Amino acid sequence: MNQPITAKINEKGRLEIGGCDLVDLAAEFGTPLYVMDEVTLRGKCREYRTAFKNRYDNTLIIFANKALCNTAILKIIQDEGLGADVASGGELFTARKAGCNLKTVYFHGNNKTQKELMEAVELEIGRIVVDNLDELALLDRITVKLGKKIDILFRVNPGIEAHTHEFIQTGQIDSKFGISKENVAEAVKLAQRTKYLNFIGLHSHIGSQIFDIEPFLKEIEILCALSEGMNVEEINLGGGLGIDHSGSDVVPTIDQFAEEVVGHFKKCWEKHKLAEPRLILEPGRSIVGNAGVTLYSIGGIKEIPGIRKYVSVDGGMADNPRPILYDAQYSAILANKARKPVGEKVTVAGRFCESGDKLIKDIELPKVEVGDILAVFATGAYNYSMASNYNRVGRSAMVLVNNGAPTLILKRESNEDLTLNDVVM
Ligand SMILES: Cc1ncc(COP(=O)(O)O)c(C=O)c1O
Repeated sequence: MNQPITAKINEKGRLEIGGCDLVDLAAEFGTPLYVMDEVTLRGKCREYRTAFKNRYDNTLIIFANKALCNTAILKIIQDEGLGADVASGGELFTARKAGCNLKTVYFHGNNKTQKELMEAVELEIGRIVVDNLDELALLDRITVKLGKKIDILFRVNPGIEAHTHEFIQTGQIDSKFGISKENVAEAVKLAQRTKYLNFIGLHSHIGSQIFDIEPFLKEIEILCALSEGMNVEEINLGGGLGIDHSGSDVVPTIDQFAEEVVGHFKKCWEKHKLAEPRLILEPGRSIVGNAGVTLYSIGGIKEIPGIRKYVSVDGGMADNPRPILYDAQYSAILANKARKPVGEKVTVAGRFCESGDKLIKDIELPKVEVGDILAVFATGAYNYSMASNYNRVGRSAMVLVNNGAPTLILKRESNEDLTLNDVVM
């Protein structure tokens, strides 16, 4: 199931989410429009917290802000008791604006800037996840200069190939991320020689949109084995659990994931004589992905007899770059014809000036007409956060829906916004 849990078809035969008629939302807020269902979003946060905490109390779930980052969404996630994983000064700034507890902020990235690191140390955030030895040296200099302590984890490259698209694999040996297993002990010794860096654990992240739990179990084994004899207080497994994007992806539930991960984690830390380390998980996609739906208006329709019928929408690769980046599959329906039977196969083309800008290839829809509203499912993760202004089109607005009430949480970018930083000569 890739739709928000509140999705239903109303008496007008239209799709409704969070008690809001999507055709009405398109009319009120315009399209393309990101719609986020609050009930689904809060539900996923709770599912994660209870599934893990009930099995292993010493767990912290932190949301990977890169999946979807704006103040309203982060406020809700913070309200549900999750921490924050940030990967830039901008994500950290947004987390602060959303009132996130800085003690639960983990700062990631393979090339954080000096300015970003200084700011993180000055703000006394929870942890910096050190990616390489050059960063360790830089952070050492920064903390000496500022005279401030900071807790650190090392990101380890576990050498695991998770089965997912190569662009979102991160744990294989040939990866820009993390310290190789062989160099971890040396990195820990170096950290222990510094005055202000307090080494407290290991982290790794093996990739994203992963359907198979096995690679996570391997990751646990590797991190626990590496931690033996190191006084490790925390083990951070990163994110990566997949979701049903296409409508037919078979994915483990969060509960199944927790059952296997926690069971194996306990066995491994016992085997390697670790002192009940805290377990950290950093889900992004599996928290926000299925809560999001994007609405588009159908514009031009072009039939190439015997070849293909294109229906063009008013968005595309700039609001959802995943199909053109890694051939991601999505499903959709016509929100205004939600009860009508499918009657034709079409390809949904974006509006941007790239032939490859196709949102969905060969999808079955009811007969499509100009002005229909297309609702694309599972767009809550890595859509807005990866959006661009290609062709100088403003980024789309976002509304949060709940109990029949829509709340605008992100304004649509205007042409004025687009030229705000232009220096007119
Ligand atoms: C370090 C780290 N943690 C967590 C995540 C979140 O992954 P996902 O959204 O697949 O759960 C990512 C995503 O790339 C990441 O790089």
